[in-house]
Amino acid sequence: MTSRELREKFLKFFEQRGHIIIPSASLVPEKDPTTLFTGSGMQPLIPYLLGQPHPLGKRLVNSQKCFRAEDIEEVGDNRHTTFFEMLGNWSLGDYFKEEQLSWFFEFLTKEVNLDPNRLYITVFSGDPNNNIPRDDESVAIWKELFAEKGVKAKDVELLNSKQGAKLGMQGGRIFYYDSSKNWWSRSGLPENMPSGEPGGPDSEVFYEFVEVEHDSKFGKYCHPNCNCGRFLEIGNSVFMEYKKNENGSFDKLLQKNVDFGGGLERITAAANNSPDIFEIDLLSSIIKKMEDLSGIDYGGEGKESFRIIADHMRAASFMIADGVRPSNVERGYFIRRLVRRAVRHADTLKMSKGSLVSLINPIVQSYADDYPEIVQNKSLIEETIKEEEDKFRETLEKGLKVFEKISVKAGGLISGRGAFDLYQTYGFPLEMTLDLAKEKGIKVDEEGFRKEFQKHQKMSRTSADKKFKGGLADTKEETVKLHTAHHLLLAALQKILGPQVKQRGSNITSERLRIDFSHSKKMTTEELKKIEDLVNQKIKEGLNMIKKEMSKEEAENIGAEMEFGVKYSDIVSVYLAEDDKGNIFSKEFCGGPHVKNTKDLGHFKITKEESVASGIRRIKAILE
Ligand code: SER
Repeated sequence: MTSRELREKFLKFFEQRGHIIIPSASLVPEKDPTTLFTGSGMQPLIPYLLGQPHPLGKRLVNSQKCFRAEDIEEVGDNRHTTFFEMLGNWSLGDYFKEEQLSWFFEFLTKEVNLDPNRLYITVFSGDPNNNIPRDDESVAIWKELFAEKGVKAKDVELLNSKQGAKLGMQGGRIFYYDSSKNWWSRSGLPENMPSGEPGGPDSEVFYEFVEVEHDSKFGKYCHPNCNCGRFLEIGNSVFMEYKKNENGSFDKLLQKNVDFGGGLERITAAANNSPDIFEIDLLSSIIKKMEDLSGIDYGGEGKESFRIIADHMRAASFMIADGVRPSNVERGYFIRRLVRRAVRHADTLKMSKGSLVSLINPIVQSYADDYPEIVQNKSLIEETIKEEEDKFRETLEKGLKVFEKISVKAGGLISGRGAFDLYQTYGFPLEMTLDLAKEKGIKVDEEGFRKEFQKHQKMSRTSADKKFKGGLADTKEETVKLHTAHHLLLAALQKILGPQVKQRGSNITSERLRIDFSHSKKMTTEELKKIEDLVNQKIKEGLNMIKKEMSKEEAENIGAEMEFGVKYSDIVSVYLAEDDKGNIFSKEFCGGPHVKNTKDLGHFKITKEESVASGIRRIKAILE
């Protein structure tokens, strides 16, 4: 079965069950500033999952282009890709578990003809901390579905991968795992979800490739979520019925949704009983071309390189077709990274220089009928890939000379600084420097490299922030209010987390504030809540924002907050947030502007807490 046939079958199957077929959204999210790329089928549908009526109704079906940057290092095994198509069917407050699980099972066993004996199920074991029950309903439905096929379906509790590897299958067919495996939201675990974010328990289906022997490198026993390659996850039904609230606990959404996502390539691989997804049509045509170009067989040694090149060239092509251009930042950086990795692996396969561009043809052919943007942008894709390869080769050549020099001087150890220069100026990823160094029998100060990397990140952030006065994008009333809230927030962070917390960057627009600060671990929901409450309390207390000019020395003496790495003049202004009795809640080096009194700010809310670099957290917050 080809993936094209499978895509058709899926869309039709759900169309016959009242679903409207919708086109794939772009890889570049439209109204979602929280993420660089569309990485799942549900992302473009968030407003509708939260309750906004969709113009086409409550039942939708699609095949969505996805790019998952976080999987870039995983590519090379039998099943990971950065780009893939996710088949999805959607109930926006319409049907729920019964219909969803029965239909998907019917689709797999009747339309795709998979043997039910090869299918294994995982379900949510519950989360007592967040008051979310075990998904017994799904288990009951699955048992019945298997019983109809005459397949015994014993349920077994494994909870997580560690236990799974310790306990193994135990004759089970349905397995309970905790939120590490069977909870879905854009931000992962319930604890990591910002308030307002929807999520829910899910039930996954795995296909078993019986020919693949378990590899004990991945644990003593095999189980559905084991990474040895015997089990392949082919579909995930998310029962999206929860939303995180401002207190950090969970409320039911107004509607119960189904968000189903299944990898097109993976289901096709199962349909063909091929544990290697690179052997299905969409990817094998690219690999075939590489075999011609390199004179090497895919079956042999360079398998990993074949897979990386095929995936990366396909992903870069789709990004370019969706309007992304190579650059050193944000989205464009991923094209650069994909092409650079592909170039290095093309060299491993001894493909001739400049030949990557010939892989665009098979890619365009495979997708021409379903993704017209790929055909329309064919020449642009080719030119871009060619240019990027040429550019990279030029820098590589220069970099190699520099590497030779450095390695002679290195005396057995290339410094962090040296490795970072190779990265920064010549585009050598650390792993490449490590490889080259290994060939010469010398070592690289990896830790030093990481330190340099962070230092650089911090510097570029600081200079970007300084473009704005006090980190402000403008001086609109809303921006000024958020600026004052920013001061209260920094003070609250220090009160709750400790005085060692220091600001490391900031940026304020009329819509939200952002603060980067030093803190070694992820903040708990409780801490976030305490901080939010404290800021709101201080807003209510109506503190006066008072500006004082003083010498830098004096300001330091009274302990006014200053940002690390920023140069201040000799006479500085300091803003105090002070109540009527003269109690000072916050004091900061700052040029303003600020509101006169905090009572004007409204309600303060943290919308996101995340890591930006090791030891540096970032908070985004709004006033409503
Ligand atoms: N959102 C779920 C996933 O990405 C199902 O579509 O796996």
